[in-house]
Amino acid sequence: MKFDILTLFPPMFDGPLTESIIRRAVERGLVNISLHNIRDYATDRHRVVDDAPYGGGDGMVMKVEPLAACIEAVKAERPAARVILTTPRGRRFDHDAARELAGYEELIIVCGRYEGIDERVRDLFVDEEFSIGDFVLTGGELAAMVMVDAVIRFIPGALGSPGSAECDSFADGLLEYPQYTRPVEFRGTRVPDVLLSGNHAEVARWRRQKALELTRRVRPDLLHGAELSGRDRDYLTTLGREEEP
Ligand code: ADE
Repeated sequence: MKFDILTLFPPMFDGPLTESIIRRAVERGLVNISLHNIRDYATDRHRVVDDAPYGGGDGMVMKVEPLAACIEAVKAERPAARVILTTPRGRRFDHDAARELAGYEELIIVCGRYEGIDERVRDLFVDEEFSIGDFVLTGGELAAMVMVDAVIRFIPGALGSPGSAECDSFADGLLEYPQYTRPVEFRGTRVPDVLLSGNHAEVARWRRQKALELTRRVRPDLLHGAELSGRDRDYLTTLGREEEP
């Protein structure tokens, strides 16, 4: 899968995209990430990439011409690529969106900056806008890194064990159950006995119950969209009863 990232700050991507799982995915040829500096496409002497907003107001707006030139240059190489813009105005990026984007062979991610970008960039070039949450970052670069990371996890072979991304928190609409590793006892706290029992059915049941408990406590909103069995629903009812005075 090919990612082309359009940014005013390519060095920001050193580190997050050059270590660990992403580095291995790149080395194995599963992923190719290219950075493009939008400023390289500004044609004036000072290579200006932003300007004051029409109509007045604070801050600067990213100009359309350098962005248009940069997007067109990259698109010439990747005509089938989907063009994404990172912006707090976008659709919320979540597990399903990451899986969906992993279905594309080529993605072009435009990192917004400053107070915003000229609306004509959206109108003319952008297929979809994504926000990574209801807060405002100083720019779209961190959002792009988050998205690339989450998308790569869905590429077959990118994670150590097959299917890992499908077992994650959110994969079935619930948060993930608690995990433990050695030692069995640490500062008076023990690994739950069921996990040491070797009884796979009991372990699976305990994990499911913990995932339900955790989701209900921390993210009850997720329960509405989760895939729940009759047994899950019965368990949630029991939890509700336990809380009653
Ligand atoms: N740029 C600034 N804030 C953002 C956010 N929350 N998501 C994506 N891009 C952004």
